[in-house]
Amino acid sequence: MQVVLLGPPGVGKGTQGRRLAGERGWALVSTGDMLRDAIAKLTPLGDAAKKLMDKGLLVPDDVMIGLVRERTLEPDAREGFVLDGFPRTVPQADALDAILRERSRPVDRVVALTAPDEELVRRLSARWECPVCRRVYNTLSAPSKDGRHCDDHPETELIQRVDDTVQTVQRRLEVYRAQTAPLVDYYRVQGRLVEVNGAVSSESVYGALVAAVDC
Ligand code: AP5
Ligand code: MG
Repeated sequence: MQVVLLGPPGVGKGTQGRRLAGERGWALVSTGDMLRDAIAKLTPLGDAAKKLMDKGLLVPDDVMIGLVRERTLEPDAREGFVLDGFPRTVPQADALDAILRERSRPVDRVVALTAPDEELVRRLSARWECPVCRRVYNTLSAPSKDGRHCDDHPETELIQRVDDTVQTVQRRLEVYRAQTAPLVDYYRVQGRLVEVNGAVSSESVYGALVAAVDC
């Protein structure tokens, strides 16, 4: 099964996508994590992406489409995948449909998570992540066991994302409204969208997400 998670920064795409993919045996395809891994490895892609990501701007469509085209062919994506952070523009959504049509594997569900901006800003200012596995924590709602290290990598100190500063979060929200929010209507008019309230507890969001995926 192929599931797209849509929604603004901080709404919980990574948190929910990781759990859903893990429980179903699907791949989590997080384009943000792929770019952060490329930055950590000092690749040319990472170098180019970093300049845009640090400002809260999107990486060009053709680059992202190429990455997703390849990633979704990997063996762990054979049974299905959850897309977190892709598509983010109408050209990306059109390309995704074309790629999957070639493979006779449609997008089965598009789930849009929603939450008010104040909640998104509050979450992102308290987010920490593991630089090894990219698992996210939150000092307010989901701290790691000791508050400093990843539960799955006890030697690894958690870090904050460079783009989680108040100023860059505001820019990311503007970019979301201008370039990604139109996808909500794009999928709604096609009858492919399910909206889920992302402003409740992680557990409640997950229950609603599973119901949306299994409906
Ligand atoms: P990306 O990494 O995708 O960032 P984003 O979309 O801004 O989303 P976030 O990762 O910030 O939030 P999330 O929804 O995953 O929330 P999370 O689960 O972490 O993209 C980063 C950059 O990469 C982009 O700006 C762009 O430059 C580039 N990029 C990526 N994809 C691209 C594409 N397709 N095209 C072009 N450029 C691209 O949760 C947030 C926090 O809240 C965590 O601390 C979590 O613990 C906590 N939390 C989660 N759920 C709850 C809850 N229900 N209650 C309380 N706390 C919660
Ligand atoms: Mg994320």
